[in-house]
Amino acid sequence: MAIVEIRDLQKTYAGGFEALKPLTLDIEEGEILALLGPNGAGKTTLISALCGLVSPTGGSATIGGHDVVDDYRAARRLIGLVPQEIALDQFSKVIDAVRFTRGLFGLPRDEARIEAILKDLSLWDKRDARIVTLSGGMKRRVLIAKALSHEPRVLFLDEPTAGVDVELRRDMWEIVAKLKEDGVTIILTTHYIEEAEAIADRVGVIDKGQLLLVEDKDALMSRMGSKELHISLRTAITEVPEVLAKYALELSDGGQLLVYSYDTQGEATGITALLADLAKAGLKMTDLQTKQSSLEEIFVSLVGESAA
Ligand SMILES: Nc1ncnc2c1ncn2[C@@H]1O[C@H](COP(=O)(O)OP(=O)(O)O)[C@@H](O)[C@H]1O
Ligand SMILES: [Mg+2]
Repeated sequence: MAIVEIRDLQKTYAGGFEALKPLTLDIEEGEILALLGPNGAGKTTLISALCGLVSPTGGSATIGGHDVVDDYRAARRLIGLVPQEIALDQFSKVIDAVRFTRGLFGLPRDEARIEAILKDLSLWDKRDARIVTLSGGMKRRVLIAKALSHEPRVLFLDEPTAGVDVELRRDMWEIVAKLKEDGVTIILTTHYIEEAEAIADRVGVIDKGQLLLVEDKDALMSRMGSKELHISLRTAITEVPEVLAKYALELSDGGQLLVYSYDTQGEATGITALLADLAKAGLKMTDLQTKQSSLEEIFVSLVGESAA
């Protein structure tokens, strides 16, 4: 059984707006799933429905086997949520806010754990500061500390790095990697493609309330991506020799670089033949590199298609 099972989950808001079209998805224990989609795609609606903050208008979902509607309390106990909007008691102290959340979930006091969490999040020095005095980035760290305080098995991070500085983003990625090591299942939404590329095991692309695809990140990138072979030449040339015409090479970098694009899905890449023909044409290489098209290009082409 998957730790999160979503079956035809659907949400139409009062007023008739269909924010989530029937969506079916299994999320395996211990994986990091990134839900990638533009603003208004329905990411927060999906997470809110799974966390019991929005009532679905169709379908169902379970967390750890507990229905998120009928068995809300049991499902909720397994979940940590870092919401997109910062909602904190501004006048409480950092450490009290984190302790409070743990208590809210009915867990016994555990000061050693609270200390470890605050240290991991670089909040220990700020433990006695009132939340109102913290920067936006620090407040986001507090949100994460609260979500971790009750030892969730499934952690939802809704745009955890939107509007935060680069340093915090890197920290966040490290925290996520560490949580994964502890076996926590992580579902994060983002509109930063490089974030999905950096940390996700699986990527779902969501647009206009619809899950357009969900696939293993590496498989997705090699399936959708074409690759390029960059051949640096010892001596610049002014045009591609006739014998190499069939490879449709592009000449750049002042005639010093040949770029060969090939399909990673193709039977043969043609690289061996190309290299042999290069030698025949008398071209000497100083370097060879392969480049893969990024998730960004894949994403843009997908969302572009759904808009058309
Ligand atoms: N409470 C609500 N009532 C009506 N429409 C809503 C409500 N919340 C969100 N929406 C609409 O649902 C769509 C999806 O929103 P949301 O799930 O927040 O998207 P995302 O998190 O991907 O940016 C948006 O068009 C938004 O305006
Ligand atoms: Mg959102």
